[in-house]
Amino acid sequence: MNYLFPCSVFYLLDPITSDIMRSTQTLSLIALLCIFTLSLAAQNSPRGRAVINADLGKDTISRHIYGHFSEHLGHCIYGGFYVGEGNTAIPNKNGVRTDVIEALKELKIPNLRWPGGCFADTYHWKDGIGPKTERPTIVNTWWGGVTEDNSFGTHDFLNMCELLGTEPYLSANVGSGTVQELAEWIQYVNHDGVSPMASLRRQNGREKPWNVKYWGVGNETWGCGGHMRPEYYADIYRQYATFMSDWTNTGRLFRIASGAGSSNYNWTEVLMRDIPNRMLDGVALHHYSVIDWNAKGSATGFDEQQYFTIMKQALQMDELVQKHSTIMDKYDPGKRVALVVDEWGGWYDVEPGTNPGFLYQQNTMRDAMIAAATLNIFNNHCDRVRMANLAQTINVLQAVILTDEEKMLLTPTYHVMKMYNVHQDALLLPTELQNCDYVLGDSELPALSVSASRDDAGLVHISVANIDAKETKTLSVELRGLGISSVEGQILRSGKLQDHNTFEQPDKVHPTQYKQFKRSGSTIEMELPPFSVVVLTVKS
Ligand code: AHR
Repeated sequence: MNYLFPCSVFYLLDPITSDIMRSTQTLSLIALLCIFTLSLAAQNSPRGRAVINADLGKDTISRHIYGHFSEHLGHCIYGGFYVGEGNTAIPNKNGVRTDVIEALKELKIPNLRWPGGCFADTYHWKDGIGPKTERPTIVNTWWGGVTEDNSFGTHDFLNMCELLGTEPYLSANVGSGTVQELAEWIQYVNHDGVSPMASLRRQNGREKPWNVKYWGVGNETWGCGGHMRPEYYADIYRQYATFMSDWTNTGRLFRIASGAGSSNYNWTEVLMRDIPNRMLDGVALHHYSVIDWNAKGSATGFDEQQYFTIMKQALQMDELVQKHSTIMDKYDPGKRVALVVDEWGGWYDVEPGTNPGFLYQQNTMRDAMIAAATLNIFNNHCDRVRMANLAQTINVLQAVILTDEEKMLLTPTYHVMKMYNVHQDALLLPTELQNCDYVLGDSELPALSVSASRDDAGLVHISVANIDAKETKTLSVELRGLGISSVEGQILRSGKLQDHNTFEQPDKVHPTQYKQFKRSGSTIEMELPPFSVVVLTVKS
């Protein structure tokens, strides 16, 4: 319902009634009528109700849920993060784009996964160290068959993480690598003493180790990482993990097993059963929102049915997280092992005219809705989901940044990630939600998605998404156990679901101040336009 309509009618009548309109009395009457109409509309919008227990909560939302992923794929690394030190007019620091560094710092990205993905299981890290002119040139067999000159290697990545203020998450080659190769990589980046690999690192110009904590042991080992059976991979994992000394002697190495694709529950069951708990810190899970792997559809030219299907896929994350967690609970009731959703996001056809192997796609309000709903799911399951990585950071799949030579733009997904970063390391506040439906034909989805947290400064943040493509929803939020002194918020919305930012119009979709709410005591009544994302900040 367009609840601004009656106000617009008065506005249109203005030329005829201009004399009368000048009278203060009439203006007040119009204002009253508008308010009345607004509240009438609010009462008529389908309504959800959330009770947030602001004085309860025991689990922290790990900032690592807001992690990112950068693979040697298309223009994620080359042209995206890295433009090289010479022969470029693009401002950079040690070859890393300055505009990208600034944008990602604003996001507060907590960790960055590299070098893949499928690429990781073909990557030999020693190819990417030493003088750049002497590094071997290889073929990126997974992604477009392009030449990979290894100019972006271990030092480049780890130094870049320092610039970004983010923790590196290295994904090791199990598919075509060796145990020794991984053991040496860890020694190379983490050992401060005298050892063959520490000496090699120093020889290559880096005195102090980087102390890398997060290590993935293979990627999609059921697929591009080796087409293994879970029983076989569990044994391989045990072998690799045995030789993963942390070299920092702090015991801080965090080993993540290559996990299931979407609903392959047997994979998680076997890993949890066959790998001793003490050898495992995280189990991965990958889930992409795809209409059909053989007909993914355009990133920008889609209809409501396609949107609905994608949102159904995105919301499936809730069921996946719950079911994988239930299996993990059986073997790890103390929840020591994290569920690490280290690849998630929307996957569509590449932009017309671009290399199919580069996975370059635009990013619309539909992607903003995927991000908002998925992050709420992760927040609400933060007892088990303690790390996640959106795929991928720049120019690949559901990117937060797109670049074209010297130009850069921030996508709607970027804006959601930024609005939501207030939840990082905050205390999850338990929320009970009575939802309302998003109906399309005979099908329905829960329209609203909510999560809430309290940060160290005592601020409560509530993130809400209305995924309905057509209908405004009302959400009545009752905050229990908190006296409210002020509420403010930001909203991300746009006229059409297909709206996106382009290099010509880079700011078409951006967050604005949110005003469509009323507060009465401890209740906040929110008006949520179709496909909108709101984050409220509540002060006590
Ligand atoms: O993110 C693109 C690819 O998707 C990754 O390389 C792989 O792990 C997954 O199948």
